[in-house]
Amino acid sequence: MAFKNSLSVCTPLECESVGEMLASMKRAEAEGADLAELRLDSLSFSHDSEVEKLIKHRTLPSIVSFRLKTSGISSNRDRKNTCLQLLRLAFDLNVEFVEMDYEVASEDVMAEYVYNRSNTKLIVSSYVNVLDVEKITDLAPVFTMLSHCQMPLIALAVGSRGLISQLLGPKFGGVLVYGSLSDKAVPGMPTLLSLRQVYKLEYINADTKVFGLISNPVGHSKGPILHNPAFRHTGYNGIYVPMQVDDVKEFFWTYTSSDFAGFSVGIPHKEAAVGCCDEVHPLAKSIGAVNTIVRRPTDGKLVGYNTDCDASISAIEDALTERRITQKGVVEASPLAGKTLVLIGAGGAGRALAFGAKSRGARVIIFNRDYERARALAKAVSGEALPYESLDRFRPENGMILANASAIGMEPNSDQSPVSKEALKAYELVFDAVYTPRNTRLLQEAKEVGAVVVSGVEMFIRQALGQFRLFTGGLAPEAFMRKLVLEQF
Ligand SMILES: NC(=O)c1ccc[n+]([C@@H]2O[C@H](COP(=O)([O-])OP(=O)(O)OC[C@H]3O[C@@H](n4cnc5c(N)ncnc54)[C@H](OP(=O)(O)O)[C@@H]3O)[C@@H](O)[C@H]2O)c1
Repeated sequence: MAFKNSLSVCTPLECESVGEMLASMKRAEAEGADLAELRLDSLSFSHDSEVEKLIKHRTLPSIVSFRLKTSGISSNRDRKNTCLQLLRLAFDLNVEFVEMDYEVASEDVMAEYVYNRSNTKLIVSSYVNVLDVEKITDLAPVFTMLSHCQMPLIALAVGSRGLISQLLGPKFGGVLVYGSLSDKAVPGMPTLLSLRQVYKLEYINADTKVFGLISNPVGHSKGPILHNPAFRHTGYNGIYVPMQVDDVKEFFWTYTSSDFAGFSVGIPHKEAAVGCCDEVHPLAKSIGAVNTIVRRPTDGKLVGYNTDCDASISAIEDALTERRITQKGVVEASPLAGKTLVLIGAGGAGRALAFGAKSRGARVIIFNRDYERARALAKAVSGEALPYESLDRFRPENGMILANASAIGMEPNSDQSPVSKEALKAYELVFDAVYTPRNTRLLQEAKEVGAVVVSGVEMFIRQALGQFRLFTGGLAPEAFMRKLVLEQF
C-alpha cells in the first residue's frame, strides 16, 4: 500500500466491531486521512481471524496499536498476552506501522520479533501524563521536544487546551497529526476536514509564523476560517490557530520567541492584555483595550492595537458618506462631526465606539444596563450617560445615529431588540455590533422605518482586515476576505 513519508494525517479508530472499523476507515479516507490508527484494544472479537480480516481489508495505510492501559480486558497477564499476539499478527501481515507501549517494546520476545521484520515500521509510545493539559503554557515542552529530537517524533497533548500541540506540531518538526472524523469530535483534536480545508498543514514549515486568537472560550472563533485561507491567498507563510488561554500574562511570559508573531485578543483578555504589551497604540490606550497584538520583527517588542474602533466607526462613516453623496454630491470631513451618537453598551465594543465617535467630533450619549459603567465611559469621552430605562423615550432630535454595542439581540436571543420600532424613527442610521445573526431584529425594524442600517458583519470584516494588515505588514486581500466572511454568516 502506497505511503508518503512527509507529514501524515492520521485518524484514530476506536470501534467495537471489525465491520464498524472498516466502515470508519472508508469515511476517514473520504475526509482526507492518510493513515488510520486501528486501536485493536477497542475491538470485541471472538477469534484472531477477525483481526486478520481487518488488517487484510484495510483501505488506508495503518498503524496497528493496542494500548495496555486503556484496555477493558481484565487481568494484566491476559491483556499483555493478547496485545503481544495481535501485534505479532500485524507484523506478520506487513502492516505499515505497529505502535506499542514502551513496556511492550522492551519485552525480549517482542524485541527479537521486531528485529527480524523489516517491512513494518515501529512506533514506541510513552504516555508521560494521561491527564489533559491544564494550561496552554504546559505545551511549551512539547514544542521543545519536537524541535530537538533527532529521530521522527510524534508528540502531542490531549484536551481542549492541547489543540495547538497538534496544529503547530509540523512547524516544530512533528511528522504526524491526528484528526477526528467529522461526527466523532474529540476535545483538542482537529477534525480531518478542518486539517484539509482550513489549516492545510502540508504548507507549514519551520519558517511559518504563528498567529492566533487568545481567548476563553475560543471554540466559536471564525478567525481560523478567515485568516488561514487569506495567508495562502497572499502567499504569506503563516498559520492562525485558536489558543485557549486562561492567564494572558503567563502566556506571554512562556511564548516569547519570534515564531509567535501576532495575536487577536478576545473575551475576557482585551483589557488585561494592555498590561502585557511593551507599547500600546494611543487610541487603544485611551480605550483601555487591545484586540490585536503584534510582535515587532525588528526588536521582538509586543505592540497592542485596537482595530474594533476604526472598524465600527469607518463602517458608520462610509454608510453616511454614501448617503450624503447620493443626496447632495458633497463629502464632508467626517459625517459624524456634530452628530448625536446614541450608544447602547459600555463594554469593550462600546468603549471602542465611544472613543472613535468622540475623535470624529460626535456628541456621545451612553445608555448601559450598569449605569455606573456608562457614567465612567461618558466622563472619559466628555459625553453624557443617561438611565438605561429612558432609552426608548430619548428623542431630542431627529437624524441621530444609534449604535448598539450591547449583547442584546445576539443568538440565541435573536428575538430581542434594545429599542422599540417606534423609537427608531428618530434615527438616520442604525448600527448593530451584534453579528450573529447577521440581520438582527434591531436592523430589520430600523430598515422598516426607513433608517440606513450597518451590520456588525461589516465591523467584523473591517476589524479582521485591520488585523491582517498588522500581522502581515500591509497585505490584506479585501475582496477575498469579504467573500469568505459573507459565506460564513
Ligand atoms: N462586529 C464585531 O466585529 C464585534 C466586535 C466586538 C464585539 N461585538 C459584539 O458586540 C457585543 C458586545 O461585545 P463586547 O465585546 O463589548 O462585550 P462586553 O465587553 O462583555 O460588554 C457587553 C455589553 O453588553 C451589555 N449587556 C449584556 N447583556 C445585556 C442585557 N441582557 N441587557 C442589557 N445589556 C446587556 C453589557 O452591559 P453591562 O455593562 O450592564 O453588563 C455591556 O455593555 C457582542 O454582541 C459582541 O458579539 C461585535
